[in-house]
Amino acid sequence: MCTIYLIGFMGSGKSTVGNRLSFQLNIKQMDTDTLIEEKKGKKITKIFQEEGEASFRKYETAILKSIVHNNCVVSTGGGIVEKKENIDHMKKHGTLVYLHASFDDIVNRLKYDQDRPLWNNDLENKYALYNQRHEIYLSCADFMLETDEKTPYTVADEVIELINQMKQE
Ligand code: S3P
Repeated sequence: MCTIYLIGFMGSGKSTVGNRLSFQLNIKQMDTDTLIEEKKGKKITKIFQEEGEASFRKYETAILKSIVHNNCVVSTGGGIVEKKENIDHMKKHGTLVYLHASFDDIVNRLKYDQDRPLWNNDLENKYALYNQRHEIYLSCADFMLETDEKTPYTVADEVIELINQMKQE
């Protein structure tokens, strides 16, 4: 099996679904945000505050490229698609699955969130970012799965179905 990259907006369930997939398929899960936090020894919010978004994006690209396993699931940060370089890397090394959630669902899921610097904004800006990113996810994903009103278990099952279909082709 090649690497599965889970992409999608903040709060779309990439980490939880990745975790579930790792358990069900008995493969390794890598989470770019977690790896950055471990490597830098500080939370993403702190990196944004102290060093700014540009530094975070550099760390994100370096971490993405440092993942060498080819039998794993990678839960990415929502902004990984901001750099074409990252998209090219993921397309070269695996399959991109876009976990799509509606804007309303995201707003609901992240209503108490304090840990996402780019969500700390007014609704209009959040919506603009959501739409802008949606177009990029759509343009680079190999597959898109709807996540609204589904549990991470159901979504993980659907990813497994996709993988099985790919194996048969
Ligand atoms: C970001 C998403 C976050 C994290 C950082 C930036 C983004 O990850 O990487 O706060 O630009 O959308 P999640 O998608 O896991 O929330």
